[in-house]
Amino acid sequence: MTRKVMTRLNPLIESSVGIVPRIAIKLTKMRILGIETSCDETAAAVVEDGVRIISNVVASQIDIHARYGGVVPEVASRQHLLTVIPVINEAMNGMSWQDIDGIAVTFGPGLAGSLLVGVNIAKAIGLARKLPLIGVNHLEAHIYANWLDSSPTGEKSRVKFPCLCLVVSGGHSDLVLMKGHGQFEKLGQTRDDAAGEAFDKAARILGLGYPGGPAIEQASGSGTPCLSLPRAWLPDSHDFSFSGLKTALWHLVQEGGISVADAAASFQLAVVDVLVAKTIEIVRQLKVQQILLSGGVAANRMLREHFLAKSPVSVLIPPPHLCTDNAAMVAACGYYHSQAGEISGYDLDVVPSLSLG
Ligand code: KG4
Ligand code: ZN
Repeated sequence: MTRKVMTRLNPLIESSVGIVPRIAIKLTKMRILGIETSCDETAAAVVEDGVRIISNVVASQIDIHARYGGVVPEVASRQHLLTVIPVINEAMNGMSWQDIDGIAVTFGPGLAGSLLVGVNIAKAIGLARKLPLIGVNHLEAHIYANWLDSSPTGEKSRVKFPCLCLVVSGGHSDLVLMKGHGQFEKLGQTRDDAAGEAFDKAARILGLGYPGGPAIEQASGSGTPCLSLPRAWLPDSHDFSFSGLKTALWHLVQEGGISVADAAASFQLAVVDVLVAKTIEIVRQLKVQQILLSGGVAANRMLREHFLAKSPVSVLIPPPHLCTDNAAMVAACGYYHSQAGEISGYDLDVVPSLSLG
C-alpha cells in the first residue's frame, strides 16, 4: 500500500515519559487500530479517518458467562488473554503494520483485569511497531460509534454540536451534553442500576437468561405491556433510577399468575418511557441540535423507535452491532484524540471507575 506518506504540519507530539513514537498530522488517510477488552467482548478494529470501518472483529464471551448468569471478572480476563492476539490478527487481515498510524485502546471504565489485557497488548504493539498509543474512555467511545460509517464510500459524519448523548450500557445510564470533540458535561446519571443492568436483572427475575436486554426484547415480542409498573421520574433532576422498577417486577412475579411475555413487554416499555421522556426534556430545556444514542441498550428496537417517533430534533443511533461493545468505536474516538494531539504515554494505566465529563 502506498498510503503511508507522513506530512508534518504540526510540531511533533511526544509523550510525558518521552518514549512514545513521534506522530505527525497527515494529509493522507489515517488508520487507527482499536482494541477493546473492558468487559466480556474481546474486540479489535481498523478505522480510517475516524469514520470508515476497514475491519471490525468481536469475540464474545457470552456463552462462557451465561452459565453463571453474569460476567465473572477472573474468567473474563483469562479469556481476553487467550483471544486478544487472534482477534487483532483477524482485524489486521490483509494489512501490514505499515498501514497503521496509531493504536487506540480502552483504559476505563470496566473490569480491571480485563482492561489490563487490552492496555498491555496495545503498549506492546505500540513499542514494537513504533506507533503512538491513544488511551480511550469506553463511554466516550460508545458515543463515537455515531461517527462510524460502515458503507464502502465512508460518508462523513452528520453530527451537529451541541448534541445530547444518552449512553445506556450495562454499567452506565449517562446523559451528557457534548459541545464539541472531547467537550463533555454530564447532566444526569443513574442513581442505582444502569439501564442495561436493569434489563439483565429483570431477565433473571423472569428466568430469561443472560444477557437480559436481548432476552427481554425477544420475550416482549409475544406479549403486551399490560402490567402496571412504576416509572421513577425524579422531578427536578436529570438522573435515572431503575431499582424500584426491578423490585416492582419481582413482587409481581412473586404474586404469580402473570405471563412472562407480558411482564417483559411491560418492563421494557417502562424503561423506554423514562429514557425517552427524560432525554427529550433536556433537549427542550437546552435547545440542543441533536440526540446521539449509544451503548448496548441502544440496540433495543423499541427504544430506537420511540426516540425516532418522539424527538423534536434529529436522532442518531448506530446500527445495533455498533451499539454493543466493539473496537471500531474505540478507533473512531482515538482518531479524534490523535487529531487533537492527545497521545498517551507508556505509563498509561487502567482506570476501572473512569467517568465522562
Ligand atoms: O455497551 P454494552 O455492550 O457493554 C457495556 O459497556 O456494558 O452493553 C451491554 C448491556 C447489557 O446490559 C445488555 O443486556 C444490554 O446492553 N443490551 C440490551 C440489548 N442488547 C444489549 N438491552 C436492551 N435491548 C437490547 N436489544
Ligand atoms: Zn460498553
